[in-house]
Amino acid sequence: MLKPEMNSVSTMMKILADGQFHSGTELGQTLGCTRSAIWKVIDSLRASGIEIYSVRGKGYRLSSQIELLDSDKIYSHLDSIAKQHLQKIEIHFELPSTNTHLLETVGISGSNGVVCLAEQQTTGRGRRGRTWVSPFGGNLYLSLLWRFAGGAVQLAGLSLAMAIAITRALHELGLDSVAVKWPNDILVSNQKLSGILLELAGEASGPCSVVIGVGLNVQASNTEMSAVDQPWIGLESGLGRRVSRNELAGRIINHLLAAIQEFELDGLTPFLEEWKAHDCYAGKEVMLHLPEGDIRGVVRGVDNTGALLLAQAGEVRRFHSGEISMRPVVGPDSPRVDL
Ligand code: BTN
Repeated sequence: MLKPEMNSVSTMMKILADGQFHSGTELGQTLGCTRSAIWKVIDSLRASGIEIYSVRGKGYRLSSQIELLDSDKIYSHLDSIAKQHLQKIEIHFELPSTNTHLLETVGISGSNGVVCLAEQQTTGRGRRGRTWVSPFGGNLYLSLLWRFAGGAVQLAGLSLAMAIAITRALHELGLDSVAVKWPNDILVSNQKLSGILLELAGEASGPCSVVIGVGLNVQASNTEMSAVDQPWIGLESGLGRRVSRNELAGRIINHLLAAIQEFELDGLTPFLEEWKAHDCYAGKEVMLHLPEGDIRGVVRGVDNTGALLLAQAGEVRRFHSGEISMRPVVGPDSPRVDL
């Protein structure tokens, strides 16, 4: 089947977003196409996992109303620092990955302070080569491109600072029970709410660009989220209310940009107290999974480069994130959950 034009698909979604019925005739007139072209667009939306009901004589509607991402609405939630540093907000209906998209723009002159969001990602990427399940319209997939003058060596600890920036935005929205898990996961009740993927382009010594990718689960009831292979939670469940994704995006952009300014001046130090206050494994026994084997120890926090401090037989060792994953050690027979 020939794929319908992305413009028709996104126009159709803008019409259906109100959750009301729209007849085939109305849709055909607005999109300027035939009934059979409308069916193709509907089929392609369904194939991307979007639930669309059709009732004879009434037309088509979504299972519920959705708030589509809108750059003007996001902009209305930005504070003065963000407005000063943000160059552009790009919103895409569908991308393979917002991180990949921004990485492709590195090197284009003036590419700095660019935010890219997508309603869905077809190949969303997580840390350690994992997939980030990214169904349409229910969550947040946001990447920010920032150019650091000091080079990659100056960036130790940036991912932890970005995790704290997200927790600040979540507190502002009223979510108090947020925890951070080294190096940059955000959890609520031991379930993953948000993950961050930092990707660098540039040289270790010279200026380098970083793409900071944030995935944040918002809604709880998307059947496609059943593909997520770890315990997860949506922000709406955590808060017990509906959330505007545009407001959420605006607040996250505010805090990411403010935290970057803070980090450029003083590194991770200004974030360490907050890390300590939210660290879900501080003082707990964990298992680190390293490429060369597993290591068990007690978490003693992080240092000002963002390295994990792990106590083992009286000695404290430092670990940098890379290819390490961390799990709690609860008991010998407890299920092993990779958070
Ligand atoms: C993790 O594994 O915890 C990190 C997940 C990061 C997902 C986000 S979604 C926006 C951006 N684009 C991607 O492909 N990945 C990041």
